[in-house]
Amino acid sequence: MQIAVVGSGYVGLVAAVCFAEMGHDVICVDNDESKVAALQGGDTLIHEEHLPELLNRYRNTKVRFMTDLAEATRESEALFIAVGTPQSDTGDADLSYVEAVASEIARSITSYKVIVEKSTVPVYTNEWIRRTMERNGVERGMFDVVSNPEFLREGTAVVDFLHPDRIVVGADSERASTILGAIYEPLTSGEYYKKTDAVAGCCSTASPPPLLNTSTKSAEIIKHASNAFLALKISFINAVSNLCEAADANVEQVARGMGLDSRIGPRFLRPGVGYGGSCFPKDVAAFRSVAEQLGIDFSLLTEVEKINVRQKKRFVSKVRSTLWTLRGKKLAVLGLAFKGGTDDIRDSPAIDLIEMLIAEGCSITAFDPAAMKRAAEKLPAGPNLKYAEDAYAAAENADALLILTDWQEFAHLDLPRLNTALQYPIMIDGRNLYDPDTMAEQGFTYISVGRPAGVAAVSKST
Ligand code: UGA
Repeated sequence: MQIAVVGSGYVGLVAAVCFAEMGHDVICVDNDESKVAALQGGDTLIHEEHLPELLNRYRNTKVRFMTDLAEATRESEALFIAVGTPQSDTGDADLSYVEAVASEIARSITSYKVIVEKSTVPVYTNEWIRRTMERNGVERGMFDVVSNPEFLREGTAVVDFLHPDRIVVGADSERASTILGAIYEPLTSGEYYKKTDAVAGCCSTASPPPLLNTSTKSAEIIKHASNAFLALKISFINAVSNLCEAADANVEQVARGMGLDSRIGPRFLRPGVGYGGSCFPKDVAAFRSVAEQLGIDFSLLTEVEKINVRQKKRFVSKVRSTLWTLRGKKLAVLGLAFKGGTDDIRDSPAIDLIEMLIAEGCSITAFDPAAMKRAAEKLPAGPNLKYAEDAYAAAENADALLILTDWQEFAHLDLPRLNTALQYPIMIDGRNLYDPDTMAEQGFTYISVGRPAGVAAVSKST
């Protein structure tokens, strides 16, 4: 099938190459000429596993990049809108990009199209797209609007797309849901997983992903409710971790005990420095705002946000209580991305924490395996902030080392080397990557989240 994907961000670009991988012909449209030129010329733009190899396979053949939405509209049967829906000052999602795309499609349409909303949007957006089409003079029979939310995570986006837990298709017409069914058929029939070079993941020919047909409004709510629920799970375990600290219990044991209950499940129960990224903070705020507009009291979501903000402040207090005073302290920071496996720093707790610690008078030397370039654009190096080439260089002569992002490589550091590099062997781990007893045996004072501290019997003399 000929498909157009509008927007070449995380969702759009990944969807475009994955549709090609499923056998479709794809046009990826973006109004940013420099992005389109970069993609045509071999750039990947984002740090995402499997993306470089799939782009190499399909670039300028099964996936074409262009800026001309009118041409893409004329050529394609289905148009996926995957443009940004940033947070406005009131917490609502700003839907002006979605509206602009819908208006442009309306001006270019010459035959029946399915317009598929893939960006995360509030309930009623599909209805607004339909109205926009009609206001621009397009007859009702010439198009359908479908909600097909995406549940991919940054860092594992390609695998999440090709091996989804579920595919949600919110369509109010038989014709549109049949077309969407055909687009996803390579996955739902299990055919894709027979390919010898298929991207590996949890789905298989014997166990393909289910496709759930719903109304458009239900599909829109499924997306927001899923993200809000996951954020709630994280805030819940963060609040429990604080309780564990106060009671001298171990949140890891508590989370394991909770997660073994199949009704709760073990995932998204990792405490830390709070959730971040381009989705959870924005989507929780947008869902709360939708509820407010519909006259529903959903103040539970306000609590989720409050706990998340407090978790960061609590971490700064932890650094302070470990080091006594903060002014003039030299800190090594490992991690800038909002989570491991990505170079994305949008709403990253690590960035917030660095700003808070600098405001308290600390000087920071930071390292991240992928996000340093982006971080330096937001927080340029200066007298109080330097970027190091690896973890050990960051640790050189620091008063303490802070882990703020859960990169796998940070869980396997050369501890004796780190101990030597640091001025004082103190690690404050916001992601619980190490075992407190092991750290104590290695000569560290080790503070983490919701677990008893590890304290070395004998610390190195300096
Ligand atoms: C999230 C959802 O997980 C995806 O299903 C969804 O499609 C996506 O948003 C979206 O709406 O586009 P993502 O933002 O890539 O994906 O990141 P997550 O892996 O969900 O992590 C979000 C934040 O929560 C990170 O800061 C992470 O470190 C934190 N987190 C996650 C925890 O603190 N504890 C956990 O147990 C899990």
